[in-house]
Amino acid sequence: MKKIAVFTSGGDSPGMNACVRATVRTAHYNNIEIMGIMRGFNGMIENEIIPLASRSVSNIIQRGGTILKTARSKGFLTPEGRKMAFTNVQSHGIEGLICIGGNGSFTGAKIFHEEFGIPCIGAPGTIDNDLYGTDLTIGFDTAINTAVDAIDKIRDTADSHDRVFFIEVMGRHAGFIALAAGIAGGAEGILVPESTDDWQKVLNMYTGNNQSKKAFSIIVVAEGEEHGGAFELVEKIKKLNPAFEARVTILGHIQRGGTPSAYDRVLASKLGNAAVEALLKGETNKMAGLINNKVMLTPFDDAINKTKKLNPDLLRLVDIFNT
Ligand code: F6P
Repeated sequence: MKKIAVFTSGGDSPGMNACVRATVRTAHYNNIEIMGIMRGFNGMIENEIIPLASRSVSNIIQRGGTILKTARSKGFLTPEGRKMAFTNVQSHGIEGLICIGGNGSFTGAKIFHEEFGIPCIGAPGTIDNDLYGTDLTIGFDTAINTAVDAIDKIRDTADSHDRVFFIEVMGRHAGFIALAAGIAGGAEGILVPESTDDWQKVLNMYTGNNQSKKAFSIIVVAEGEEHGGAFELVEKIKKLNPAFEARVTILGHIQRGGTPSAYDRVLASKLGNAAVEALLKGETNKMAGLINNKVMLTPFDDAINKTKKLNPDLLRLVDIFNT
């Protein structure tokens, strides 16, 4: 291989820039040319493809977002879009791809390989931490620290006013952010899509005969919670207990931005490096991840289709600490 390209795709996450930097520096170290594809798969279709010198990635390791921009591409879902993308990739002499993204991005890369034979290695860039084949994804650590910082601030005002707060965090269909931020933020209740009895426990705290005696409390809700989002859940409790009062905060996209933590920068550097080395060794359709502190490759099929489980030990702590 003489020339490869890197792109970021799907929702951005803090540490993507550190990962781009790692891929560029590793490519140059191995005397390989590397190009940057702007705006994910959209940039492939639109031919927004630029050369990346070693110095192109100077001073970005500490920056949130992604200098390559990102997108959730609709065009790439069509055969015509992918054909156009292939024509452009081929015209630049690009022989392999590094995709920094999540589930949807790896699915696109896999189909692209099946149709046109362009090898691709992924690095897990998403705050959700919902990818099988890596203990942590790039951006998760920063996102949970951002969420905990917000929870701490809300805790101050909840305490002053003796109020209940329902705080909704991101995570699409997964509860990793809610569980980690909830434990670290000392939440009285944590609602995640993966647990079946969590909602009943929270209901018991505010309805019926054994209501919580705590003056104030924080309930962290994953956006994918099956009983509803934070606003909806508060309304459901009010129906059963009209005297119930709670404030709701949706943390939203604040969790996606900001300076990546040292942990995320190191993780991104390791996985960006591993992804390029794997591509150069002839690997394809695999994601570089960290399992038990070792860099491992997991087939895209598994990363996409297998479900990473929440840590049951952490889930257990919610009940133990809320006595
Ligand atoms: O996948 C990352 C994520 O932030 C999810 O937690 C969230 O559900 C989604 O992206 C939001 O996507 P968008 O920024 O496109 O609205």
